[in-house]
Amino acid sequence: MAYAAFRSIGAYAPKKILTNEDLSKMVDTSDDWIVKRTGIKERHIAAKDETTSDMGVQAAKKAIERSGIHPNEIDMVVCATISPDYFCMPSTATIISNKLGLGNVTAFDISAACTGFVYILSIAKAFIESGMKKNVLIIGAEKLSAITDYTDRGTCILFGDGAGAAVISATENKDEAIIDIHTGADGTYADLLMTPNGGTGSPHDSLELEAGACFMQMKGNETFKVAVRTLTKDVVEILNDNNIESSKIDHFVPHQANYRIIKAVGDALKMRDEQVVLTVGKFGNTSGASIPMAINEVYESGSLKAGELMLLDAFGGGLTWGSALVPFSPLK
Ligand code: UT7
Repeated sequence: MAYAAFRSIGAYAPKKILTNEDLSKMVDTSDDWIVKRTGIKERHIAAKDETTSDMGVQAAKKAIERSGIHPNEIDMVVCATISPDYFCMPSTATIISNKLGLGNVTAFDISAACTGFVYILSIAKAFIESGMKKNVLIIGAEKLSAITDYTDRGTCILFGDGAGAAVISATENKDEAIIDIHTGADGTYADLLMTPNGGTGSPHDSLELEAGACFMQMKGNETFKVAVRTLTKDVVEILNDNNIESSKIDHFVPHQANYRIIKAVGDALKMRDEQVVLTVGKFGNTSGASIPMAINEVYESGSLKAGELMLLDAFGGGLTWGSALVPFSPLK
């Protein structure tokens, strides 16, 4: 039987930095409020002509190079994004594949908001375990600044741009395999996080565009409460299902939405500070890119060693959520 191994990680953050100080000149907010309520100090913002696929390509190049797998061996590319180069088509995954010069690949995007990376990890695992694919490039990439309303202090302080990518490949060695992935969704909470304009539920209309309906809208406080409740339940379940104690997790890599959510879930799991990966301070919330960007920080700091166990968790618009138990399994 084929198992799926998490071989490599790469990430990219655009050069421009938007600080809390900068935002306090744009909306009625302050560095003090943002840091206390979210843990965010700054976020990276893509250049005007820099697309989601451009960032995805940068992250993917690093992930492929670090995987030791030849680009010609990549047989599927999946991108998680809510800020694609083009809504509807072509998919950002096909654009990334073309820019990377990948040959005959299956390529598509998925929309699961901030849970996107956990969803595409589960897709890669399923395709590999079924024997349909051998080496899957997964990418979380977002240019959220393009869909952020910089007059809304409830959302614009949170979001940033960036990309992260990983190569998942087939192995016969069970010790290298991704252990388990949970994914879930509940559409009854669909209205908590939305970009109302552009789809068939609310077709394009110039008046609506002026009113900012093409931007992300969020009921922040309600989302916060559901996030803490749902994530805590989900991570407890995935650990219990697999008989793994939280003390055995080397790196807890949560979606980086808000320090207070991460702290609440980490405390419920009795995680020690050194187990918890925190990048929200420097990148803000980059939705589908946040988990791979966070894993990449651990990797580039030299702290992610072969065989170490990561626990991922994410929560986002839909509502969607997910968690994963993933050993880091680079090719020897
Ligand atoms: O990644 C996908 C999932 N998303 C999330 O998980 C985000 C979850 N939500 C959050 O992170 C938090 O709810 C926020 C950071 C968005 C807001 O924090 P909060 O502690 O839930 O604040 P709140 O919405 O309850 O608002 C408290 C007060 C309000 O003022 P009043 O009514 O008490 O006078 C807001 O108007 O804070 C005010 N406020 C702000 N003040 C200064 C809201 N945003 C700001 C701001 N600066 N940027």
